[in-house]
Amino acid sequence: MATFKPSHEGYVPGQLTLPQKYYVSEEIWNRENEKIFNKYWICVGHVSRIPGAGDYYLFDVLDEKLIIVRTKKGEVKALFNVCRHRGTLVCDSIPEDQQKPVDEETGHTNSFQCPYHAWTYDLEGNLISATKFMKGVPGFKLQDHPMGSLPVHVWQGFIFVNFGKNPEPFEKQYKGLIGRFDKWQMGRARSFKRITYSIETNWKYVFQNFNECYHCPTQHPLLNSRIDYTGSLNDLTEGPVLGGYFDILGDSMTTSGKFSAIPLADLGDDLNRAYYYTVFGAGLLLNIHGDYVMFHLVVPVAPGKTIVISEWLFNPEAWSLPGFNPEDAVEFWDITNLQDWHLTRIAQQGVRSRDYKPGWYSPRESLLESFDRFYLEELK
Ligand code: FES
Ligand SMILES: [Fe+2]
Repeated sequence: MATFKPSHEGYVPGQLTLPQKYYVSEEIWNRENEKIFNKYWICVGHVSRIPGAGDYYLFDVLDEKLIIVRTKKGEVKALFNVCRHRGTLVCDSIPEDQQKPVDEETGHTNSFQCPYHAWTYDLEGNLISATKFMKGVPGFKLQDHPMGSLPVHVWQGFIFVNFGKNPEPFEKQYKGLIGRFDKWQMGRARSFKRITYSIETNWKYVFQNFNECYHCPTQHPLLNSRIDYTGSLNDLTEGPVLGGYFDILGDSMTTSGKFSAIPLADLGDDLNRAYYYTVFGAGLLLNIHGDYVMFHLVVPVAPGKTIVISEWLFNPEAWSLPGFNPEDAVEFWDITNLQDWHLTRIAQQGVRSRDYKPGWYSPRESLLESFDRFYLEELK
């Protein structure tokens, strides 16, 4: 079982914040691409979006466009959205007649047909039709031209892909995750809401901001009324997965302070705790509460631009029960997220200055020190 300790216990006095170049330089960005983004398993969403065969959604990451789809065999596939004819996007948007009633960003289909010349692929990405003119063309065989795909790993319902040539096993990269969160049964949780935010900041500022509550009293009056910001306890303090928990004052992290839904599972003491973890490389930030999970996908776009996709998951049985009030949880974090994104924007604006120089971390920011150490090691 994990051992939890206050954040100041891991503090290294005098370890400074990262130099400017790590937030602004194209050269560093290219190194991050090579050493981090193309090495780690990257989270691209949660399976609750695609419960049935033929359900799919589009996901942009690392300048690539992917189709995440549930196949007839029930597996999750990550296809490159690139036609084998002349490279066109096979699916540039989800046609209206394929949109799922509850989520227009999720589609449903039996096959993907390229809009250009109608070459058609099945859910596994196999080319199944290339129109009449390709019939009988010497040497051309449909089976030789499937869409490209990426390896996929599903952990607790979260879908990860890997762009590396020889990906390390998921379990090796993210040892801290394995077995750590089984109790919450996140794999069976169901999505209620997703919000996409575009932030003019470096992806590391989003991670660092998430890993400290030093700013909570001044910046998050609502959040700060639900926790004692000095009371966080961390169990994962080194390596790619970092985090711990707060005891919640009241039932849950909602605007009203009450539970928004029935518990995700049988949680015992963890019912009134707010767990927070960052998963380096995966772009995944987890906020796990008794009654819901809110996760962020942090998608780096450029040194000074990051997309964050936030999504709220609940117990699938909550929908049919009285008292289900998911908006209470959505509003709580949407308010908090907007406050945080503002902070990460102004951090990015300040770090660009000729006057910026690395500053001292406080004892409340030991996870940021740990994040920076791990990051610099990975970048070597
Ligand atoms: S480019 Fe896709 S069918 Fe021609
Ligand atoms: Fe915050």
